[in-house]
Amino acid sequence: MSAPRGRLIALEGIDGCGKSTQARILAGRLGAVSTFEPGATPLGAALRALALDPGEVPVSARAEALLMAADRAQHVVQVIAPALDAGRWVVTDRYAASTLAYQGYGRGLDRDELDSLVDWAAAGLRPDLSVLLDLPVAAAAARRHGGTADRMESEADEFHLRVADGFRELAADSAVPWLVVDATGSVDSVASTIWGAVEALAGPDGPPGGPR
Ligand code: TYD
Repeated sequence: MSAPRGRLIALEGIDGCGKSTQARILAGRLGAVSTFEPGATPLGAALRALALDPGEVPVSARAEALLMAADRAQHVVQVIAPALDAGRWVVTDRYAASTLAYQGYGRGLDRDELDSLVDWAAAGLRPDLSVLLDLPVAAAAARRHGGTADRMESEADEFHLRVADGFRELAADSAVPWLVVDATGSVDSVASTIWGAVEALAGPDGPPGGPR
């Protein structure tokens, strides 16, 4: 008998919201495949550099959307779908909503056109749960420190405000199930709120990784 299909959980939010930490904690508890966008495949790593490295070639908004879509197409085929088919749960640090928020609300590309592009690239694979770590832009900027800012992080505050509002709108008005978490809380309290939603998603047998 084949394993029941796994679940796909996406962590979303603006840069500095803490989703990478939460993705790591959640994937660890679940024993899930832990992955991220953009850049989790060899093709994706090259696309990520083209899209985000500062001082590289100019990238138009539509080209940026297509690079993110290409990254996701490869990510789904090479990493996510095989894991789900094998019955594994998958936690991804960013997925489709990031394209809608950054390239749609941030860059101003048409939302319906992007919806079609995103769905097509992912071959229709949608998350079983998207988690928005909601943090004020100023707090997120304060948490980002050190290192060289990539092309997105170098954008003006207004860009990040549009992206943050975009995530909130997406979470409020979407066919995909969302959990919105106040990310100003401690790492532990945010993690336990997320865990509660994941237990509800798992049904009577509970999530893999057992009770916590
Ligand atoms: P991320 O890897 O989360 O940032 P960090 O390196 O700080 O952990 O994401 C990299 C950037 O890519 C982030 O600014 C958001 C952007 N992005 C898009 O603009 N569109 C997309 O579809 C995705 C997946 C990411």
